[in-house]
Amino acid sequence: MAQAEWWQGGVIYQIYPRSFMDLNGDGIGDLAGIAARLDHLVALGVDAIWISPIFPSPMADFGYDISDYCAIDPMFGTIADFDALLAAAHGRGLRVLLDLVPGHTSDKHPWFRDSRSGRDAARRDWYVWRDPAPDGGPPNNWLSEFGGPAWTFDAPSGQYYLNIFLPEQPALNWRNPEVAEAIAGVMRFWFDRGVDGFRVDAFENLVMDAAFRNNPPNPEWTPPLGPARSLLGQHTKHQPELVAIAQAMRRVAAEYAPERLLIGEAYGEPEEVVRYYGPALDGFQQPFNFQLIGLDWTPAAVAEVINEYEAALPPGAWPNWVLGNHDRGRIASRVGPAQARVAMVLLLTLRGTPTIYQGDELGMENVPIPPDRVRDPWEINVPGHGLGRDPVRTPLAWEEGPGAGFTTGTPWLPIDTRPEVCVARQAGDPASMVAFTRRLLALRRAESALALGAVEVLHAGGGVLAYVRQAPDGGPRLAITLNFTGREQPLPEGLVGELVLSSRNANPDAGAPLAPDEARILRLRG
Ligand code: NOJ
Ligand code: CA
Repeated sequence: MAQAEWWQGGVIYQIYPRSFMDLNGDGIGDLAGIAARLDHLVALGVDAIWISPIFPSPMADFGYDISDYCAIDPMFGTIADFDALLAAAHGRGLRVLLDLVPGHTSDKHPWFRDSRSGRDAARRDWYVWRDPAPDGGPPNNWLSEFGGPAWTFDAPSGQYYLNIFLPEQPALNWRNPEVAEAIAGVMRFWFDRGVDGFRVDAFENLVMDAAFRNNPPNPEWTPPLGPARSLLGQHTKHQPELVAIAQAMRRVAAEYAPERLLIGEAYGEPEEVVRYYGPALDGFQQPFNFQLIGLDWTPAAVAEVINEYEAALPPGAWPNWVLGNHDRGRIASRVGPAQARVAMVLLLTLRGTPTIYQGDELGMENVPIPPDRVRDPWEINVPGHGLGRDPVRTPLAWEEGPGAGFTTGTPWLPIDTRPEVCVARQAGDPASMVAFTRRLLALRRAESALALGAVEVLHAGGGVLAYVRQAPDGGPRLAITLNFTGREQPLPEGLVGELVLSSRNANPDAGAPLAPDEARILRLRG
């Protein structure tokens, strides 16, 4: 293999800035807070942080509604705080990725204020405006991800504008080259400051059907899926024009040396998502792979996902894996706390770049949110479907005590203050989840088989998943064996080797049966 890029062997850590560390006591995390806690990330052993949006925003969708792409929201600090954080991170060998939200702005963004000022406005066509249907209703049946129609009526001009998310998040018109140029300018603004890359928000929703055709009904829809899933995304998601947009964004990243990293957020089938690598690997270096989110937690289902995704990858494309983020239930709650280590081993030993969501290294679980503390507009608009994202966005607990070392004020969301989930307690305990995650990351760094090697699934059944990672150039082979059950399971046949790591705190015999919920890594002989 040619010299690997840093992000191929590297590990990314997602920071949800409102909930990482609050230094000024207003109950909301801030940039100075992140800078103050970088040691945790260095001790953990990650290579890069991706910070969810920190730009000026009315916070209708907690920063995913941006009113100025080239500044910092005062809630998070100043541009000087940002520069200081970037320098501090770089000084510790951590790369910094920001969140690029190209699909929509805030309705308070000057671009949209101009656009809605009248049909002749200079930027009218920067957003998606349509005449009403003949009955005066929305132009077609498209639905907002967050409930209700995807169209908002603007009485003064007599037209509707498109909002794939909240009405406070009007969709930009990517068929207008001026929009593409403006967003390229945003990328350059941050790249010029030294940012190492972007995670690109909601990429599958960036362009809509040019003819505005209705979406067909989803035959598999049942109410728990939420109303937006009652239609298929045929004309609103994964449109063919997106590949050229990924390529154009990549050209901007390639203006810089070293080239900057682009990670595209797109939910879809493997064959839809891998298109964004680009036909000549000239699109996103990493279209996010969410196949592990929302699958049945069984060896067979995970093996199928590994094989399907590996088969769908274009030749030479580098894979990536995600277990959780600020939008989806906590992994420890989805699979149960006893399986959290098995899940972490899976994430950090599959072939590809892993992204760890903040708090998963502590085994954080979804935190119940009392009705009077619900903040997520999705839960407020579409209550009762379990769509609310507040439970996965609660602050990190750093220390024991009421503000958990996160804040001296009132936290914006409740904190899980059980002593066993806080960083200080876990860092001092070699048997903790965080200590285990550090060992695992150190092993990943030391073993090229784990960082860069090939993968082969050997066994998926009887509650056990086993796969082998083979170091480049015929180097060592490591077998990863995962017990998905709470019962002892025999080790798959033929796996003879030395123990490298076990998720149990007492070291088992390399060849002993797997203990309940055990993950074990062996160095294979020969
Ligand atoms: C995906 C982001 O991850 C999510 O938090 C946000 O609400 C939507 N995109 C809209 O920007
Ligand atoms: Ca703060």
